[in-house]
Amino acid sequence: MKFFVDTAEVDAIAELNELGMVDGVTTNPSLIMKSGRDILEVTKEIADMVDGPVSAEVVATEADAMIAEGRKLAKIADNIAVKVPLTWDGLKACNVLTNEGNMVNVTLCFSANQALLAAKAGATFISPFIGRLDDINLDGMDLIADIRTIYDNFGYETQILAASIRTVNHATQSALIGADVMTAPPDVIKKMALHPLTDKGLDAFLKDAASANIKIV
Ligand code: E4P
Repeated sequence: MKFFVDTAEVDAIAELNELGMVDGVTTNPSLIMKSGRDILEVTKEIADMVDGPVSAEVVATEADAMIAEGRKLAKIADNIAVKVPLTWDGLKACNVLTNEGNMVNVTLCFSANQALLAAKAGATFISPFIGRLDDINLDGMDLIADIRTIYDNFGYETQILAASIRTVNHATQSALIGADVMTAPPDVIKKMALHPLTDKGLDAFLKDAASANIKIV
């Protein structure tokens, strides 16, 4: 499973990137706002830092304007994935930008039918938002499973990018269902390393090592 980091904070990306954990990065206008940086400048810095796809989102709502923004974003670096919303205009923009040879991430997906349309429009990635479905008392994981089934039924190559991951359980479930990629905030990725029995076991080992005066270097 590929791991994308869902942030525009370059220090957090760099920390995970050093561990080889970063297969790509996703940003959105809210994350850019949070970073306080200029979108073109910060996206360039991130794209230079990581090898994989870096999603940068358009802010226009009409297809022609989205295409113009997408072309500009794609020029930032070879590894930019242009992010467009799952609207009819977004699907049009997806189709044009894909046919021009760009990676396209279709975002804000909340239904299996939307994901089916994105695959038909040639999306490189489809981003179903798990956490935001959970927020309204639906099960985001059901959507990931439905999309996996539909894409496998017909051999669509669009990659399922599980997004809006808020918990470590979202990460586990996405991996079990077979999402191709998950994008998660840095703190969620770090929390995946935690287990109380690891801490307890390590504590006991360290006490015994001290009692036996074990020294290695
Ligand atoms: C994905 O590309 C989005 O940037 C992100 O996962 C949205 O997450 P949120 O619902 O926690 O804002």
